[in-house]
Amino acid sequence: MGIEGNDWVLMKTARAPSNIAVIKYWGKRDENLILPINSSISVTLDYLFATTTVAVSPSFTSDRLWLNGKEVSMESKRYKNCLQQIRSRATDVVDEKTGLVVKKESWKDLYVHVASKNNFPTAAGLASSAAGFACLVYALAHLMGAKESYEGEFSTIARLGSGSACRSLYGGFVKWNMGKEDDGSDSIATQIVKKDHWKDLVIIIAVVSSRQKETSSTAGMQTSVKTSPLLQHRAQSVVPKRMVEMEEAIMKRDFATFAKLTCADSNQFHATCLDTSPPIFYMNDTSRRLIGLVEKWNASEGTPQAAYTFDAGPNAVLFAPDDKVARSLLQRILYLFPPASDADISRYVVGDQSIMELAG
Ligand code: ADP
Ligand code: DP6
Ligand code: CO
Repeated sequence: MGIEGNDWVLMKTARAPSNIAVIKYWGKRDENLILPINSSISVTLDYLFATTTVAVSPSFTSDRLWLNGKEVSMESKRYKNCLQQIRSRATDVVDEKTGLVVKKESWKDLYVHVASKNNFPTAAGLASSAAGFACLVYALAHLMGAKESYEGEFSTIARLGSGSACRSLYGGFVKWNMGKEDDGSDSIATQIVKKDHWKDLVIIIAVVSSRQKETSSTAGMQTSVKTSPLLQHRAQSVVPKRMVEMEEAIMKRDFATFAKLTCADSNQFHATCLDTSPPIFYMNDTSRRLIGLVEKWNASEGTPQAAYTFDAGPNAVLFAPDDKVARSLLQRILYLFPPASDADISRYVVGDQSIMELAG
C-alpha cells in the first residue's frame, strides 16, 4: 500500500503514568519553554495513568484532540509545541501489519487526531497534565518514528506541554533538574533510581474530591511568581538544600528523612499559595484532617510513621514505610472517614499502591 490514496489510517496507543512531587515545582522563569525556578523530585504513580491513541490519515483536515471523550481545542501552544517538536524528528515509518510506508517528508503535511483518557480525576491535583503530556509525546514519537538524539530529549519535549510531564517519562524516583541554559536543553528529567530500589515503600492515594480545581497549576504559579515573596525565598534558599537531602534519603531508603522533607515541602508549597495575592486554596477541610491525623500519629510515636503530600488540589498522596504501617494508616483513615458500607480495609490495598475515595 502506498500513501497516494486517502483511505488509510495509521494509529498508535500508549499509556503513561502520573507522578507526585515530593519536592515541588512551582514557578517558571520562562513561560513559553516551561523552565522552572527550582528543581524538583517526584515518585511515579503507576496506578494513575493516561491512555492516548494518536492517528494520522491523509483524510484528516486538521489536528484534533478528544480528552476524556470530549473534543477540546488543540490550538494551545502547549499541544502545538509538542506536536511540532515530534513532527520535526519524524522518520520513514513502515507499518508492519499493512506494509504501509509513510516517508519522512510526508509527516509535515499530515494532520493527527488524538484521543486521550485518564483513569483518575482530571485537573484535580493528581497531575493529569503530567500523565497526559508524557503520553502524548510518547505516542506521537512512536507513531512518527521519532528517536531521541540524546537521553532525556523527549522529557524536554513533554516539558513543553506541562512542566511536571517531563518527570512522567520515567518510573520510580525522578529528578527534574531546572537547568541553566536559556534554550531549556539542560532542563531535563532523569531517573534517580528504579521503583524496586525501595520495594517496601507503600503509596496510598486518597481521592478527596474529583472536582476540577478553580485555579489551574499554570495560572496559580504565574500569580505566585508575581506576588509571593515566600516563593523567591523557597526557590533560592530552601529547595536546593532539600534536593540534595531528598535524593540522599531516597538512596538510603531513610523513611524518617523522606517523610520529614516530603511533608515540609508540601506545607511550604501550600504556604506559598496562601502567600500569593489573591491567595490560592488548594486543600480543603478533609485534606487538613488527613494532615492532622498523620502529624498526631507521628508525634505520638516520636518517629515518622507516615508522610503526606498534596499537589495543586485537595487529594492526598500518603506514604508508609511498609505494608504493616500502611494497614495501620488505612485503619486510622477509615476510622476518621467511615465508609458507607462495612468495607474490609484490605480491599484497598492493591500491590504497592492503593486508591481510596473519601467522603467529604
Ligand atoms: P493536574 O493537577 O491534573 O495536572 P493541571 O491544571 O496542571 O491539573 O492540568 C490540567 C490540564 O492538563 C487539563 O485541563 C488539560 O489541558 C491537560 N490534560 C490533562 N489530562 C490530559 C490528557 N490525558 N491528555 C492531554 N492533556 C491533558
Ligand atoms: C503542584 O506541571 O501542572 O503539581 O507546567 O504549568 O503545566 P504547568 O504546571 P504543572 O504544575 C505542577 C505543580 C505541582 C508540583 C509538581 O508537580 O512538581
Ligand atoms: Co498539572
